[in-house]
Amino acid sequence: MKVAVLGAAGGIGQALALLLKLQLPEGTNLALYDIAPVTPGVAVDVSHIPTAVKAVGYAGEDPTPALEGANLVLISAGVARKPGMDRSDLFNINAGIVRNLIEKVAVTCPTACVGIITNPVNTTVAIAAEVLKKAGVYDKRKLFGVTSLDVLRSETFVAELKGADVNNVKVPVIGGHSGVTILPLLSQASDEDKLEFTAEEVESLTKRIQNAGTEVVEAKAGGGSATLSMAQAAARFARSVLKGLTGDEVVEYAYVEGNGEYARFFAQPVRLGRNGVEELLPIGTLSAYEQAAVQAMIPTLKADIELGEKFING
Ligand SMILES: NC(=O)c1ccc[n+]([C@@H]2O[C@H](COP(=O)([O-])OP(=O)(O)OC[C@H]3O[C@@H](n4cnc5c(N)ncnc54)[C@H](O)[C@@H]3O)[C@@H](O)[C@H]2O)c1
Repeated sequence: MKVAVLGAAGGIGQALALLLKLQLPEGTNLALYDIAPVTPGVAVDVSHIPTAVKAVGYAGEDPTPALEGANLVLISAGVARKPGMDRSDLFNINAGIVRNLIEKVAVTCPTACVGIITNPVNTTVAIAAEVLKKAGVYDKRKLFGVTSLDVLRSETFVAELKGADVNNVKVPVIGGHSGVTILPLLSQASDEDKLEFTAEEVESLTKRIQNAGTEVVEAKAGGGSATLSMAQAAARFARSVLKGLTGDEVVEYAYVEGNGEYARFFAQPVRLGRNGVEELLPIGTLSAYEQAAVQAMIPTLKADIELGEKFING
């Protein structure tokens, strides 16, 4: 198996390179690409860690050598938020970066699974889908917006609030990856048992999870957004995709093109396998609060998706 990281010299990219070097199965090849000249050095640096994952770095304008033969491509190339910015403020720069990189994916490794980390994810995934479609290689089972950080944050915050064992806490998160489109399903949260929340707890916890990215942006005071926790979320996502590709069955939450019940793309539980998404899993019964939140997010999510579609198709 080969995993390519595009944006590998960035805050997420470097931490992700380290985690993948440590966590990927033995024998995996790791290709690190970024326009920044430091990138081959990042690969040399991690390659001194004694694990059976081989890292090679590529810098410059052309990601092709990194993409050749890739089974999974993770994209974190682009700019990150500064205080006062919304994820949608990143669109002007990141839309073009994702389009250009996906055009190369379409030519070089059209059957690879692709996980998009670059924000605004609600929109960049739609951009990627339309580029792949234009190139005649779109397979909706293989394109993902990486939303696993929302799941990690929910598990952490719920465990903190309830004094539960964080290793056992499970919280589904559905919708998209910005503001009100992030919806933790606290009515389905569990550790070994179902966890119960008051209405006030649901309200404050939901808001905290939706604004968790901003919590990091503000705490970093102009120095960027979440990188370390995001890298761990992406590493977990990558391990799950590879497990699926090599024949195991794994359940993950990701932003994928589903059955269109709520919006063309929707973060939901999926069963991963040899072809990427093998099955869309049901999101389960929603509380009245969650049902209202889903209805309320739909216009935002649909507009975010349409922005990406229009960026490619005019
Ligand atoms: N999905 C999520 O949950 C989530 C969480 C946090 C951050 N993000 C997003 O991830 C992205 C990266 O964040 P970061 O903190 O690593 O930013 P960063 O600025 O530290 O790194 C971005 C890297 O992308 C590189 N880059 C720019 N254009 C490129 C191109 N055309 N080809 C290859 N590389 C290119 C830059 O050289 C840089 O090394 C941002 O868009 C951020 O909003 C997503």
